Amino acid sequence: MEPVSKKVFVKTYGCQMNAYDSERMRDVLAPLGYAETARAEDADLVILNTCHIREKAAEKVYSELGKMRRLKRLRSEQGGGMLIAVAGCVAQAEGEEIVRRAPAVDLVFGPQTYHRLPELLARHQADGKSLVETEFPAEDKFGGLAEKALPRKGVAAFLTVQEGCDKFCSFCVVPYTRGAEFSRPVAQIVAEAQKMAIQGIREITLLGQNVNAYSGLNERGQKAGLAGLVAELSLIEGIERLRYTTSHPRDMTEDLIAAHAENAKLMPYLHLPVQSGSDAILKAMNRGHTAEHYLRLIEKIRSFRNDIAMSGDFIVGFPGETEKDFEATLALVRDVSYASAFSFKYSPRPGTPAAEREGQVSETEKAARLAELQALINAQQAAFNRGMISRNLLVLLEKTGRHAGQLVGRSPYLQPVHLEAPAGLIGTTVDAHITGVGSNSLSGHYVQAH
Ligand code: SAH
Ligand code: SF4
Ligand code: F3S
Repeated sequence: MEPVSKKVFVKTYGCQMNAYDSERMRDVLAPLGYAETARAEDADLVILNTCHIREKAAEKVYSELGKMRRLKRLRSEQGGGMLIAVAGCVAQAEGEEIVRRAPAVDLVFGPQTYHRLPELLARHQADGKSLVETEFPAEDKFGGLAEKALPRKGVAAFLTVQEGCDKFCSFCVVPYTRGAEFSRPVAQIVAEAQKMAIQGIREITLLGQNVNAYSGLNERGQKAGLAGLVAELSLIEGIERLRYTTSHPRDMTEDLIAAHAENAKLMPYLHLPVQSGSDAILKAMNRGHTAEHYLRLIEKIRSFRNDIAMSGDFIVGFPGETEKDFEATLALVRDVSYASAFSFKYSPRPGTPAAEREGQVSETEKAARLAELQALINAQQAAFNRGMISRNLLVLLEKTGRHAGQLVGRSPYLQPVHLEAPAGLIGTTVDAHITGVGSNSLSGHYVQAH
C-alpha cells in the first residue's frame, strides 16, 4: 500500500464534462492516498485537465505548464518531488507534442484513459520516463468508477451519461478529442444517481457532448433514449430537479420535448446551440439543419412548455461568413429571444476541415460581429431576468452567499437567486418573491418552504 500522505492539485479547463472527469480523477486517486489540495505548490501530483476547443484555451495550458515547471524545480531543490500530468482534450489532440514543448511533463493522458491513472502512475514510477497514453480503450471507463466514488458535496451536481460525438461539425475538435458517441447503460446511471441522492444531491444535470443523442441499454436489453432515462431518474426519491446539456437540434425528439410538459422534475431550461442563422454557413458547418428547422423546433418546444428558457451557442466569423450571413444570425437571435447564450469568435483548429478553407474572416471583423451579437444577447438576457420581478419562483437553495444570512439558490430557469433565509434550508426548495435583478442574477425574499 502507498503511504496516505500525498496531495493532488487538479486544475480544470473547458466544459462541464471536464469538471466531472476531474472529480472522477480524485475518486480514482483517493485509494492511492492522494488528498486534494487547492495549492499547486503543496502538490505531489499536479493535473491540468485541458480544453482544446479554441486556440486560446489550448495555449493557456503551456503558460500554466511554465509555472508548474518552476514549482517542480523549487520542490526538488527542497528535496521533494512533483509529478506534472496533462489530461483532457489538449492531451488527446497533441499527445507527444506536449512533452516535446514542455519536457517537465511526466504524464499525458486523454479523456478516455483517466480510470487507468493508478496503472499509469505505477508505470511512470517504474522507469521515471514521460508517458503518453492517448489510445481510445475499448472498455467502458465508467464501469467500476462508481464504487470508488468519494461522497459528492453540495446540492447540485453533474452526471455524465453520454460521451463523444459523431456529428463532425467542420469547425470542431470534439469528435477527435473525445471519440465516437458512447452512452452509459441506464442501470449504471440510475445507481450513480441513487447514490448521489443519498449523499444530499437534489439536482442533477445530465452531461454529454450530444446528450440528447443518448441511447443506452436498459435492463431489458433495449435502447433507451434521453426521455426514457429522464423518466427513470425522476423516480428516484430525493432527486427533485433534472437538467441536461448540451443538446443538438437534430436529436431533439418528440418524447423529449413532451417530457418538458409532462415531467415536473425536468426544468424549463434548454441549451440548444445553433451556431449561425445563415443556411449557407450552417451547411458549410455541416450542422445538418437549417435556420428554419431550428426556429420551427423552438416553436414546437414552446407549444409544450411556453415558459422554457432558451440558451444557445454562436460562432461569428466562420470562413466565408458575409455581412449578410451575420445579419441572418442576428435575425434568428431576435426571433428566438434567448434567456442566455454563449458566443465565440471562430478559431481555426488544426485537423478540422474549416481551418483549411478560404475566406477566413479578419480578426477585426470577428471582434466587431461578436460585440454586436453579444450586445443583443445581453439585452435579451436582461429583459428575461427583468421579467421575473414581482413573481414568485421556486428556488432550490444551494449554499450560503457572500453576505451574512444570505443564501444562494437557482430558479427553475437556472438563474442564481440571492435571498435571506436560515442556513438550515440549504438543500430544500423554497418559494421566493423576486424583487431585484443583477447583471446575471436575481434577488428576492423568502416566502415559505415548498
Ligand atoms: N456539443 C456541443 C458543444 C460543443 S463545444 C454542441 O454541439 O453544441 C461548445 C461550443 O464551442 C460550440 O457550441 C461552439 O459554439 C463553440 N466552438 C466549437 N468549436 C469552435 C471553434 N473552432 N471556434 C469557435 N467556437 C467553437
Ligand atoms: Fe462539436 Fe458539432 Fe459535435 Fe457539438 S455536435 S461536439 S459542435 S462536432
Ligand atoms: Fe473543451 Fe474537450 Fe470540453 S475540447 S469543451 S474540454 S470536450
